[in-house]
Amino acid sequence: MNHYTKLFHDEKFPGYQPKNPVAEDDFWNRHDLPFVEIPNVISTTKDYLDVKQRHKELFAPLDTQINREKNAEHENRRWYFTPHSQGWEQCIVVGDRNRETIPLITDTDRDQPKIFFDPTPHRDVLFDVRAQIDRLGMTVKRLMILALHPDGYVQPHIDPKIQQVPRLSYFWIPLNDSSPSLKIWPHGYVNHRAGNIYLFNNNTWVHSVINQDQQMRYVLTGLIDTEKCSNDFYQLAVKSAKKQWSIGT
Ligand SMILES: [Fe+2]
Repeated sequence: MNHYTKLFHDEKFPGYQPKNPVAEDDFWNRHDLPFVEIPNVISTTKDYLDVKQRHKELFAPLDTQINREKNAEHENRRWYFTPHSQGWEQCIVVGDRNRETIPLITDTDRDQPKIFFDPTPHRDVLFDVRAQIDRLGMTVKRLMILALHPDGYVQPHIDPKIQQVPRLSYFWIPLNDSSPSLKIWPHGYVNHRAGNIYLFNNNTWVHSVINQDQQMRYVLTGLIDTEKCSNDFYQLAVKSAKKQWSIGT
């Protein structure tokens, strides 16, 4: 049970001990929300300029795309769960080769997921944004930068749910502004802005990305450790969701 859900139970339903697992109305697991926008909490300018300056050093093309497409061809029904992309590069900042590999693996073998990214973390980037993320109490267990070239895209897909991660624990933080490029089907384009955090339900809803601008788009993505993030951050996320989606009062 989520830590904060347990606190809620302890306060509102003291002594309640379900004998069997029950479906929880846990915020991080709300499958009905495609995304939650937490507005105006991050300043990205400094890190954006740094990342842009060091692009060639930091990023490597995703050279395993061929493997992904081969897998998808081999088992046609899996196509929908396999991101097909072009003009997409990535750089891991925080993470581990052997753990937390959710967003960028195929579902070829759910028990032995394959890892399709350069596992070398670049821990010397994003100091400014990381400090702000820490101050918000948004503990991350995975953080990486995606670079999408002009005309680059990721075709509509659902990310495979390999391990039990809460649905809203995947996040998306634009480092620079661009025209809307992230689309969640059937909801439409997300009007994303640098400075906002988007909690993104990527293993429930079909989504796609296309960069229709002339400039490179940089985005931070990764996973929140929902068990370790602060209660303040949890409350901020819940408040943002309520405001954005008119949930509750
Ligand atoms: Fe995805």
